Amino acid sequence: MKNRKHILSLKDLSKQETLDIVNRGIEYAKGSVSLGTQLSGKVIGIYFTKTSTRTRTSFSTAALRLGANIISYGPNDLQTNTGENLEDTLQVLSQMLDGLVVRTSGSQQALNNFKGQRRMALVNAMTKEEHPTQALADLTTIKMQYGELSGINMIYMGEGNNTAIALALALAKFPKVSVHFCTPPNYGLNKELLEYAKTEALKNNSMITEVHNTNLLPSNTDIVYTTRWQTTGTSKPDKDWRQKFEPFAVTERLMTSYPKATFMHDLPAHRGEEVEAAVIDGDSSIVFDQAENKSHSAKAVLEWCFI
Ligand code: CP
Repeated sequence: MKNRKHILSLKDLSKQETLDIVNRGIEYAKGSVSLGTQLSGKVIGIYFTKTSTRTRTSFSTAALRLGANIISYGPNDLQTNTGENLEDTLQVLSQMLDGLVVRTSGSQQALNNFKGQRRMALVNAMTKEEHPTQALADLTTIKMQYGELSGINMIYMGEGNNTAIALALALAKFPKVSVHFCTPPNYGLNKELLEYAKTEALKNNSMITEVHNTNLLPSNTDIVYTTRWQTTGTSKPDKDWRQKFEPFAVTERLMTSYPKATFMHDLPAHRGEEVEAAVIDGDSSIVFDQAENKSHSAKAVLEWCFI
């Protein structure tokens, strides 16, 4: 009887499970783990219906480096493209694959409906609601940078998208953390998931807040985080959205208020939009360490699914 595990939402992971994945990712990043056998004999599907540079490559290379074979499906390769539903597709793939890493334009629910089966490990590589493997990689980067996750202070500027939700759910598990989301009006975090993260944070003596006013930023922070304004595969209904977003850009001026802060961005970036080039290419930026850590974290994620 196979008993594969899934990573669909950070709501499903305990603090210890999250830490185990983060710590293992750090071991991979430090090169202290021998590669090649962890997933030998496994076949992992990499199914992306939307564009991706980092996530698709990191999971593909992670699977290969750990000894698995992969089958890569782009948006036009499966019969979902001709009308077969995702549920039937996942059912059939689970009868053939050991694991599936999936980025879908669909909702989280379609993946959650498939949680009950344990034959095929399922990894959410981004849905409309959440980007959990991004947050796991980001926690890996933060722990490598600061030595711990407890007590971290973060300001997040920009749209309350699936990366923002994943960060809220992940950081809420740790004590004395403060995450301050500063999002444009009507572009905030999913309310239900934000409330869930706030409640979890309070249980851990931590604080998650959201404001829509850049005059309400805290006086100190360890990290300033942003994401691009056009989240992959989405569009904005109102034509004036750029004007609403402009005050939420991460500028050199903003960073001078936080001289000790590091700058993080999940990439891809648009210099001159959500972040000034001088910031993302400046001394405080760790965005390319962050991107590299996606590959180390992906190894930890895949390995965890099969332990
Ligand atoms: N950050 C991130 O998910 O990058 P990709 O869209 O390139 O995978």
